[in-house]
Amino acid sequence: MCGIVGYTGWRDAESVLVEGLKALEYRGYDSYGLAISDGAISVVKDAGRISDYRNNGNIPAGNVGIGHTRWATHGVPSAKNAHPHTDCTGNFAIVHNGIIENYARLRAELTSSGHVFASDTDSEVIAHLFEECYDGDMMHSLQEVVGRLEGSYAVLVISSEDNAIAAARNRSPLVIGVGDGEIICASDLVPIINYTREVIFLEDGDCAVFSENTLRIVNGGSDIARPPEFIAFDPESARKTGFDHYMIKEIFEEPEAFSRTLASVQDIDEIQKFIKRAESVMVVASGTSYHAGMIFRYLMEEFSGIPVRTEIASEYRYVRPSPDEVVLVISQSGETADALTALRRAKFYRCRTIALTNTLGSSITREADHVFYTMAGPEISVAATKSFIAQLAALMKIVSFCGGRGCSLLLTDVKQSIEAVLQLDVAEATAICARASTLISIGRGVFYPVALEAALKMKEISYIHAEGYAGGELKHGPIALLSEETPVIAFVPPGETRNLMLANLKEIASRRAPIVAFADPDDVDVAEIAEVVIPIRHRNVFADVAAYTVAAQMLSYEVAKRLGRDIDKPRNLAKSVTVE
Ligand code: F6R
Repeated sequence: MCGIVGYTGWRDAESVLVEGLKALEYRGYDSYGLAISDGAISVVKDAGRISDYRNNGNIPAGNVGIGHTRWATHGVPSAKNAHPHTDCTGNFAIVHNGIIENYARLRAELTSSGHVFASDTDSEVIAHLFEECYDGDMMHSLQEVVGRLEGSYAVLVISSEDNAIAAARNRSPLVIGVGDGEIICASDLVPIINYTREVIFLEDGDCAVFSENTLRIVNGGSDIARPPEFIAFDPESARKTGFDHYMIKEIFEEPEAFSRTLASVQDIDEIQKFIKRAESVMVVASGTSYHAGMIFRYLMEEFSGIPVRTEIASEYRYVRPSPDEVVLVISQSGETADALTALRRAKFYRCRTIALTNTLGSSITREADHVFYTMAGPEISVAATKSFIAQLAALMKIVSFCGGRGCSLLLTDVKQSIEAVLQLDVAEATAICARASTLISIGRGVFYPVALEAALKMKEISYIHAEGYAGGELKHGPIALLSEETPVIAFVPPGETRNLMLANLKEIASRRAPIVAFADPDDVDVAEIAEVVIPIRHRNVFADVAAYTVAAQMLSYEVAKRLGRDIDKPRNLAKSVTVE
């Protein structure tokens, strides 16, 4: 949700910022901008994407600058609302990620003392506050400014007088990369790793001021010594390398993401004790991560008998937590505001908390009692694919430990099943789905969340209206939507859900709705009734859940591609949703 980047050092700041913003674009991409300080501040910004950026002569050479790629909250995407924002004198420029909750009051106060605002954003107040508070000392001025802000922010500020960048963090991520005679600061690691692997994750309440080779961090009025940590990160994993889109590249990385995560989840004994001591587990997450949590629920209850509840993170604030529950928060980014708020609520009610995330050093990792990492590597496409499969790997491993040796054996088949799916041809199913304006997706039991995830992926990237339902719910309302124009995607694996799913298929076929079934190639009953079968060889429930999900991701991808959608950056979305 908005990407910010700052550079100070010996390189040309403009090119570092432009490259950095391209790497951060998955966080938001409706407008962009950058500002360079070379004794005066120069700003270029516009609606659109950083790939549209051309230096029109307004940006001078300089070694200190800040940049921003936006996901609009306050104010429509436009040049005037794009960051950086400047104060009335043009001596300060700021970029901000987050929401300033008291901006309306601050704006009214600043306006009545003569400040003139140029945008509709909440962020612009920070520039004018800097103008008010600046006393020649960047650190002191920054502390004064953030003392007046309420809400979440990762903010960078440059001034015409200082050869330095001021940075502050509260509930929005900010990482400082310390290079040789240069410092690059950004919302996440991806733009940093081309320059240095030595990084400092700023913490809430941190104010930092840095130039090419000085760095000072203050928190709560005291200087903090926070040495950089070394990050092992393969830059290749964040490149498209021959694929048409990041999404399909990332789908092809799923077998590895699965097995890497499986191998990495080690301190499982402790987690197992943790979970077994509790009366039940409450899983809290959003979107795709929530679907992973639902899958966990079905598998955990079946194999270990431990009760699991699930709650959408944004709804958890209305649920009364029980201290006897372990709360498992799943968030690939580790920055989702709804998930963080839920984690804090669980802690407030004295629940023990576990976080499962793909992002090293993310906010969630600082606050949970215990942290698990998925090993998906960087996921650039906005739609989650390999991060989901990596979540399944970690969650299935927990299930297997709590459920005993029988189910750990099931894990060995999963990678092979996913690999087989990657060879499938989904062209016929793609043709059926791509001409629809509404799609229904159904599954039962543990394949119900698979159906929900299939519908979510489809609507996110193809923009076709797709809804997921439990197979048994179809007759309670959604069946009214069925017609020849409404294809149904159905997950019909062998096993306990198969016969009732087949009954559903018959009801659907009687309404002439075309059926795209995911099923075992030997299931002749399904083949007879479905328009198209996407054949997935049955192995076991763990392998089938993973394989059916990956096949559905591929179908969504192919449909979106056929419709010419902007697959890696779908409209209105952002990868890391840091607002509630
Ligand atoms: C869908 C998708 C979103 C995220 C959701 C939670 O493809 O990516 O639904 O799953 O915004 O994000 P995290 O897992 O980062 O908390």
